[in-house]
Amino acid sequence: MNRLYSALLLGSVAAALCLGCQKEAVPTTTAPGTTSGSNALTCTPRPESTDYRFYPLGHGLAPVGDVMPYYDAAAPTGKYKIFYLKDVWNDATNQRHPWYGLQTDDFATYAGLSAGQILACSPDGCQQDFALGTGHIVKKGSTYYAFYTGHNPNYPSGCVTRKEGIMLATAPGLNQGFTKNNSFATIYAPAGQGFDDNDNFRDPFVYLDAATGTYHLIVAARKNVSGTWRGVVARYTSPNLLNWTYQGILYDGGPDNFFMLETPELFKQGSMYYLLFSDITTKNLYYRKSASLTGPWNPPSGTSRFEGQGLYAAKTLLDQHGDRYIFGWTNRLAGNTDAGAWQWGGNLVTHKLYQLPNQDLAVTIPHTLKARTETSAVPLSKDSQWGNVTNIQAGTESYTLSSPADKDVANVLYQPIGPARYRLHCTVSYSSAAKDFGFLLGACDGYDDVYSLRFVPGQQRFSFDRTRRGQLSSTTVATNDVPFALAPNVEYDVTIVFENSVVVVYLNHVAALTSRIYRAPGTSWGLFADHSTATFRNITVTQP
Ligand SMILES: *[C@@H]1O[C@H](CO)[C@@H](O)[C@H](O)[C@H]1NC(C)=O
Ligand SMILES: *[C@@H]1O[C@H](CO)[C@@H](O)[C@H](O)[C@H]1NC(C)=O
Ligand SMILES: *[C@@H]1O[C@H](CO)[C@@H](O)[C@H](O)[C@H]1NC(C)=O
Ligand SMILES: *[C@@H]1O[C@H](CO)[C@@H](O)[C@H](O)[C@H]1NC(C)=O
Ligand SMILES: *[C@@H]1O[C@H](CO)[C@@H](O)[C@H](O)[C@H]1NC(C)=O
Repeated sequence: MNRLYSALLLGSVAAALCLGCQKEAVPTTTAPGTTSGSNALTCTPRPESTDYRFYPLGHGLAPVGDVMPYYDAAAPTGKYKIFYLKDVWNDATNQRHPWYGLQTDDFATYAGLSAGQILACSPDGCQQDFALGTGHIVKKGSTYYAFYTGHNPNYPSGCVTRKEGIMLATAPGLNQGFTKNNSFATIYAPAGQGFDDNDNFRDPFVYLDAATGTYHLIVAARKNVSGTWRGVVARYTSPNLLNWTYQGILYDGGPDNFFMLETPELFKQGSMYYLLFSDITTKNLYYRKSASLTGPWNPPSGTSRFEGQGLYAAKTLLDQHGDRYIFGWTNRLAGNTDAGAWQWGGNLVTHKLYQLPNQDLAVTIPHTLKARTETSAVPLSKDSQWGNVTNIQAGTESYTLSSPADKDVANVLYQPIGPARYRLHCTVSYSSAAKDFGFLLGACDGYDDVYSLRFVPGQQRFSFDRTRRGQLSSTTVATNDVPFALAPNVEYDVTIVFENSVVVVYLNHVAALTSRIYRAPGTSWGLFADHSTATFRNITVTQP
């Protein structure tokens, strides 16, 4: 379709969609010449690539599963080590989710640990750790203790009576294989207390309470709490990492009943304790905070979370500079297509995590990744615009888009961006918003057959929607979203990092939304406002 034809079609359909409107929706401040482009829009993406640097795949290009970050201050390089479950299951070497590691110093380039596999599953189908689940590595003296989930998919069978238990392996260093401790009695859910005794007991994490020298082991489990089955976090204590005593339930979801609070992490920042967990049902990442290590746990004071579904099984580490980073994985979709089913494991994604004055948690781009992604400017080629669009600062990509009615979409469209990885930066504000505004990706047209990354002030959130714009309503369930407080006439800083199909949006240095978008790489994109007046200031795209 040539540009003139698509512009005509855009106009007529936009007018036709303006239900109840008596007049054509054609007001425009388009400068002469700016709509004369002849480029067809491109909405067929480049195929998925394995060329990832910011958001790496694992060993042998296998997807990364549940992570176990460890800050190795003594290492000359590769201080940030991110152990993970390698997503192979019954591969040629008979491995089921073995542990491997990635390391980095800047979150822009990663290397695998030279040791390769550091923890193997058992080849014996009767052993508890016939497959591995995630866990946690802690150092005591000169020994590294790896607590891990032994998972046996053969349960129930003649020789396997429990699906999951907590096991121990140790090593004198991090970049080497760990030795399983067969004398350590596998920890199972305490009997006779209403736990799911045979299943759902996994993801150990150890917190050292420096004040008392006591280790606290937390485990994701399921339990009958006063007659209701709930996902819970069980707690144990130990003076020595070897003898563990059950101490009851640390958290049971409170007013929320989660099926499983997966991969829980406990950490302290300042005077506040945080309990981080991933909701197995929605895949969203949540946290609770408390003035005490043992609760009671309260939800954040502001928005209920700082990410969506794209940072699953996330955990953090604190470095020697006092900076905390959070790591998780962005799932794949079957067949590397947006229509495919959700798949476990994916690319490693990292944010910087910090405390707000109200002690809620917030995320932003790691400063090292920011610095690494602004080496050179990527020139933007504007394709076209439609509706009431005003360039507010000559010589920059700065526009106010004003749309007077639902589905009468004002837009600015750009030609596809070439590089596999790049960063977009701008600020965004709005003066009125009856509906939404934001960015279009994979634009087959400028108003309907598009993916939307959108600010929805009426719902105080930012969302990624694959739903065609013409079908979006106030009850549409977003493909992925994050709560985000929005008020008129406030300028929000927006950074979007693109690497192939991983798209990470940072909102005003407080929230992030990481999504898998196979239709993003190499497609037409743009800005839009729908029944809103929104300003996008100084859009710049840069690359390493
Ligand atoms: C175009 O939008 C601006 C706001 O940017 C508004 O002031 C103006 O009235 C609109 N023009 C028309 C013709 O609707
Ligand atoms: C293995 O576990 C046993 C039993 O808890 C303990 O006595 C022993 O010290 C452990 N070995 C190592 C290397 O930690
Ligand atoms: C759950 O616990 C309640 C008591 O709190 C008990 O009456 C009930 O039988 C238990 N249900 C199951 C399925 O264990
Ligand atoms: C740990 O457990 C072992 C064996 O059960 C026992 O001999 C030892 O006294 C315990 N140590 C502590 C510190 O509780
Ligand atoms: C636009 O953004 C770029 C990159 O962030 C910056 O170098 C430049 O100074 C900005 N220009 C204006 C006019 O704000």
